[in-house]
Amino acid sequence: MSNRRRLAILGASGHGKVVADIAIQSGWQDLTFYDDAWPRMTRHEHWEVRGTLPMLLHDLPGFDGVIVAIGHNGIREAKLEALLAHGARVVSLVHPRATVSPLAKLGPGCVVVAGAVINAFASLGEGCIVNTCASVGHDCRLAACVHVAPGANVAGDVEIGRTSWIGAGAAVRQGMNIGEGVMVGAGAAVVADVGDRQVVGGVPARPLSPSSAEAGADPLSDTSNVLRLNLPSSQGRP
Ligand SMILES: CC(C)(COP(=O)(O)OP(=O)(O)OC[C@H]1O[C@@H](n2cnc3c(N)ncnc32)[C@H](O)[C@@H]1OP(=O)(O)O)[C@@H](O)C(=O)NCCC(=O)NCCS
Repeated sequence: MSNRRRLAILGASGHGKVVADIAIQSGWQDLTFYDDAWPRMTRHEHWEVRGTLPMLLHDLPGFDGVIVAIGHNGIREAKLEALLAHGARVVSLVHPRATVSPLAKLGPGCVVVAGAVINAFASLGEGCIVNTCASVGHDCRLAACVHVAPGANVAGDVEIGRTSWIGAGAAVRQGMNIGEGVMVGAGAAVVADVGDRQVVGGVPARPLSPSSAEAGADPLSDTSNVLRLNLPSSQGRP
């Protein structure tokens, strides 16, 4: 019987490569991808792509942990819910050179990338991503499947609703309230509350034009092949 720790990663995407790297650096030895692009896709860099989500649900007893590595917040949320409903051991991954306060709380399925900082009494729901060199200040409350993109800084005591994006390099002033399904554009400065499903950008952040509203549902060009499935998305429009 092998003592190697076996991790299943759902989502053979660019983000999946980052998740695999963090997993290796935090002690997981055997990594296997699943992606709904299987069987068209059978390899992802060094790793096998073994099957689709239903196949992963079947294979769950063979893994010590499972994580969803899908950039699209709404799809990540739907997949995570399916896994949790099947009793999967969903784990969080923290890069060894990220800093997470022992007084902060992370729900299952969170990914904290190199250089990120999560401060005291911050609370993150399931499936959140705090990306490269991003920060989440003290007492922040992030609901499920929020993504704080590379280099974004969320000051203390900010509330962010489920599936919202804080774009790369954005800054959010302390105490702000950001709704669900919001897209904060790269480089924005959020100095006022933002309502549900708004797409905002600029300094100070203001609502962007209608074409941006479409992009708000899928701001990553580097999303998983899982996106090609006809899945319900809770990310976007009502
Ligand atoms: C906000 C965002 C979603 C808009 O996407 P989009 O709809 O494709 O945007 P477009 O390129 O069509 O631009 C629409 C308008 O918004 C403006 N705009 C776009 N992004 C902007 C931003 N970040 N800040 C300010 N204005 C922005 C454009 O200049 C354009 O203005 P115009 O109509 O006056 O010409 C996108 O630009 C963005 O910032 N995404 C964040 C990406 C990110 O952080 N990725 C992290 C990956 S880990």
